[in-house]
Amino acid sequence: MFSFSVFLLCLRLARAVTVNINAAASHEIPSTLFQKVTSPSFQSGDGGLYAELLQNRALQLVTPGTAASLVGWQAVNGATIRVIRETTPVSSRLPNALEVVIPSGRSGAIGVANTGYAGLKVTAGTTYKASFYYRFPSATNFAGNFTIRLQTTAGQILGTQSIAVSGSQTTWRSVAVDILATVTPSGTANLFAITADAPAASGQTINFAMLSLFPPTYKNRPNGMRADIAEAFAEMKPSFFRFPGGNNLEGWTLERRWQWRNTIGPLVDRPGRLGDWTYINTDGLGLLDYLYWCEDLGAEPIMGVWAGYALGGYSVPENQLQPYIQEAIDQINFAIGDPDKSAAGKLTALRRSLGRTEPFAMRFVEIGNEDFFASASYVYRWRAFANALKAQFPQLRFIATTRPFDPVLNPNPTDYDVHVYQTPTWFAQNSFYYDGFRRNGTKYFEGEYAAISTNPNDLFGSPANGRLVYPTMQAAAGEAAFMTGLERNSDIVFAAAYAPLLGHTTRNQWTPNLLAHDANTVYRSASFYIQKLFSVYRGDEYIPSTLPARTGTLFWSVVRKRNTRQIIIKTVNVAAAAGQFTFVLPFNTVASSGTAEIISGTGTSSNTPTNPNTMVPRTLNIPTGKTFNFTAPGVSVAVLIFEAY
Ligand SMILES: *[C@@H]1O[C@H](CO)[C@@H](O)[C@H](O)[C@H]1NC(C)=O
Ligand SMILES: *[C@@H]1O[C@H](CO)[C@@H](O)[C@H](O)[C@H]1NC(C)=O
Ligand SMILES: *[C@@H]1O[C@H](CO)[C@@H](O)[C@H](O)[C@H]1NC(C)=O
Repeated sequence: MFSFSVFLLCLRLARAVTVNINAAASHEIPSTLFQKVTSPSFQSGDGGLYAELLQNRALQLVTPGTAASLVGWQAVNGATIRVIRETTPVSSRLPNALEVVIPSGRSGAIGVANTGYAGLKVTAGTTYKASFYYRFPSATNFAGNFTIRLQTTAGQILGTQSIAVSGSQTTWRSVAVDILATVTPSGTANLFAITADAPAASGQTINFAMLSLFPPTYKNRPNGMRADIAEAFAEMKPSFFRFPGGNNLEGWTLERRWQWRNTIGPLVDRPGRLGDWTYINTDGLGLLDYLYWCEDLGAEPIMGVWAGYALGGYSVPENQLQPYIQEAIDQINFAIGDPDKSAAGKLTALRRSLGRTEPFAMRFVEIGNEDFFASASYVYRWRAFANALKAQFPQLRFIATTRPFDPVLNPNPTDYDVHVYQTPTWFAQNSFYYDGFRRNGTKYFEGEYAAISTNPNDLFGSPANGRLVYPTMQAAAGEAAFMTGLERNSDIVFAAAYAPLLGHTTRNQWTPNLLAHDANTVYRSASFYIQKLFSVYRGDEYIPSTLPARTGTLFWSVVRKRNTRQIIIKTVNVAAAAGQFTFVLPFNTVASSGTAEIISGTGTSSNTPTNPNTMVPRTLNIPTGKTFNFTAPGVSVAVLIFEAY
């Protein structure tokens, strides 16, 4: 009886479809379709993409004297350390300092150390850039050395440098040294330490500020990105990058909104801010850093401007919007202002003073984020921002963030950012989401989407209620089914991005994420490989074919890459049983074989830190022809690539 019903189930799930493919394309595929967005959830900017290795490097926004203010820091060999409100701060933006008092009667190296962001990766042969400020609050006759070193928590030296120090001056001095690591330790339980010789420094008080340690960054960009994470992003060949995040733009309060001016210039001039996900953002990853990152990645920026709403529920009244509109105009001019035109003079001069003369290439600006949380005030906020910004920047496209046409906005938005977090099943059943939308000029940016839970009644609950910790194959296949619909509708869907991009394996406040990381490694999920396959095999034009069944389990879409005369077919099978496709092509010439990139697995399996490669795409040779069959394994996504013209 049991095996009989299993047999029936298999019969029910096994599917076969015949797909007739058209000869002519219906529309071009926008260059921006597929990827990417940033949403700095916990330790995805700081401690994630941003390469800085020291946690709490500048004691930003912490309360002096508290234990919490010392997060990331520990005393070495019995020094007394605490965070103080400096009487003579290193800058007006960084009021705190790390005070280190050396007791008498100790021997050996004594001082202070940083534990990194839940670990600190050190690799032999790599040169690390360490820097910090120090001063002696009272002049002393101390003359000695600081030893700046990388070491294991057990004390093994991994790399070291020393500098001569005199206690005779009370002004801040800046130190910048390169430390070559000569040993690769077995793990990331390592420290960055600054010490002095205990007997020589006995009785001294030394204050430190703005301490930093950088490994080599992606494309060696100063103040840049962590190379392994950046390379994982680059592997997807992302066509765009949205910043500065989703909700993190808004702030919980007016004061805590993202303010671009606080994120540019020397690091000592960046005060940091309490981000929306309750951790302190260093803002080391600031506006200019994001713009350089887009260039380094070869991705178009989609830049958000703050639009008068704080996530805690505050909307700026209509008659008080002007300063924030000006803030947005200045932000845009800082990014794209033409240095030869006077209107944006101050902003382009500011950009030039920070080392960048040329304006950045930019076409899209998003006004706010998820303003369906405050639709009523968005009616006047959108009106004020969109009218003012369009008048200043007629060449830009401005993206609205309420639900399309709800409420009705004036001026009528040309572009909407649509967000959806749902179940794998919802995604599979909504691959026709955009098919019914009117073709009347309005365009859509599927700005955040992900299958996050298998429980439709508790999407935002705990993992016990179905919330995914890592993307599963079932989630990835559901997203892929939805993406075949985005591709089909890319005449009106101009861009799409999974979200969030990155989350720490243990220190996150949101799961699942496209990539997971810890101090040592970045882990690629099944959803990551789907995003990569759709992006890398984007094609230039969409080729209509027989439509999938709306409530079926097999999905597909067909595109062409003109310069290589390739047809690219994406197939998705969300069922557990294999499905068979028969493709019928109208072309005169079809290669007799092609390539398939296939990713499949059991629905509930995930790539995890302990099993990171449970699902990776495999490359196969497949027979192709004017009519050919392809068997899609259970819960699979495949990209079939072959010549046809
Ligand atoms: C400081 O370090 C230098 C070389 O790095 C060494 O020559 C000197 O003796 C050290 N000074 C003290 C006081 O230890
Ligand atoms: C397109 O159609 C929608 C829905 O009918 C409408 O609300 C919107 O204003 C239209 N867009 C344009 C540009 O006419
Ligand atoms: C495709 O599969 C069908 C049914 O399984 C079979 O009859 C047909 O011969 C196959 N076609 C090719 C080209 O292999």
